[in-house]
Amino acid sequence: MLCLGKSSEALEKEVSTRNQDDHAIMIIKKRRPRYGGTHPRSFQEKYKELDPNRYRSEIQKIVEAGKTPAGSHRPVCLNEILKILAPKPGDLAIDATVGYGGHALEILNRITPGGQLIGFDLDRDELCKTENRIRAAGFLTDSFVSFRANYSHIPQMLSSLKNKKAQLLIADLGLSSMQIDNPARGFSYKVAGPLDMRLDPKGDRSATQLLRSVSERALGKILEKNGDEIFAVEIAKAIMERQRKRPIQTTDALVEAIQSGLNTLPPKMQKLVDDKSTRRCFQALRIAVNEEFRSLDLFLKNIPSILAPGGKVAILTFHSGEDRRVKKAFQGGHRAGIYFDIANEIIRPSPEEIYSNPRAKSAKLRWAKLK
Ligand SMILES: C[S@@+](CC[C@H](N)C(=O)[O-])C[C@H]1O[C@@H](n2cnc3c(N)ncnc32)[C@H](O)[C@@H]1O
Repeated sequence: MLCLGKSSEALEKEVSTRNQDDHAIMIIKKRRPRYGGTHPRSFQEKYKELDPNRYRSEIQKIVEAGKTPAGSHRPVCLNEILKILAPKPGDLAIDATVGYGGHALEILNRITPGGQLIGFDLDRDELCKTENRIRAAGFLTDSFVSFRANYSHIPQMLSSLKNKKAQLLIADLGLSSMQIDNPARGFSYKVAGPLDMRLDPKGDRSATQLLRSVSERALGKILEKNGDEIFAVEIAKAIMERQRKRPIQTTDALVEAIQSGLNTLPPKMQKLVDDKSTRRCFQALRIAVNEEFRSLDLFLKNIPSILAPGGKVAILTFHSGEDRRVKKAFQGGHRAGIYFDIANEIIRPSPEEIYSNPRAKSAKLRWAKLK
């Protein structure tokens, strides 16, 4: 990991050099890019949002309007998670999905002095930016370290760190807003871009490659199992018909193929079509590309070996396939006497949070406390 493994002196020097660089940028004042019309339309034109240090008040207005500024992410159920995990000075915390670092920073503020947060993420590009932001907030390697790694490998990573055990563990599953909003990552059906969908931009197999190697039957199963898509068979057929004529390489080509599958449904079935099929199919493919359920199952199995006695874990999920797995693992662990206590009910974001951050809408939070 490019950003890891520097001594604290080197990091202090780096932060101070960065501050000087920022100052130099203010003085030189680069000419800003222009866009047609009154509002930026494409991700690249949102340069004000992508430069939070220079455009604080513009970004505040976007947040107040219930939107997420491009290139950032708003932590979901933050207060609920802080209440459950109750971080305190000296704790060792693990953030399995550090993302933009929203939860991580709030936890760091509470476990320091004396504590440390170890962050994991698969996305090397975003993790590097997050690490820089966290360093700039004053957290050096004694309080924050990060690894570009799958959270299913946390026990192996901890054994290389003298087998430390954590008092608290958080996992906020799925995608960050930076990943969804960036068309180059190919996660969103709303914007045209390459059909990539890899959480690790250097990962083995993109969605385009997956479509090249999968059979129609296997694709149908992916759409059904990972996305709960009721028209999985018809959509898989249409996608593979297009794929045979010309490989699907862009998000808009996939959207068209999904739509053409829905158009083949008989009129009485058309009544059952809602506008969510495209979203469900994109989600299903992304889960398959990144083998997300496999990672989650391994992570859930590993939790008792990551936590210290009495340690707590909080997991945020964003669709039923994830929540079912978390619920089953916690209930099984409770029955087996591994967990002392678990959440009886799902915790959901408050109406106020959903109003101010609609992306929080489908979040479900569960927790468990180790014996
Ligand atoms: C919802 S975001 C986390 C946001 C974060 N809590 C915050 O407040 O900024 C989910 C993150 O998990 C990462 N991720 C997803 N699957 C992963 C895995 N198996 N291992 C490590 N990171 C993963 C994604 O790359 C993404 O950055």
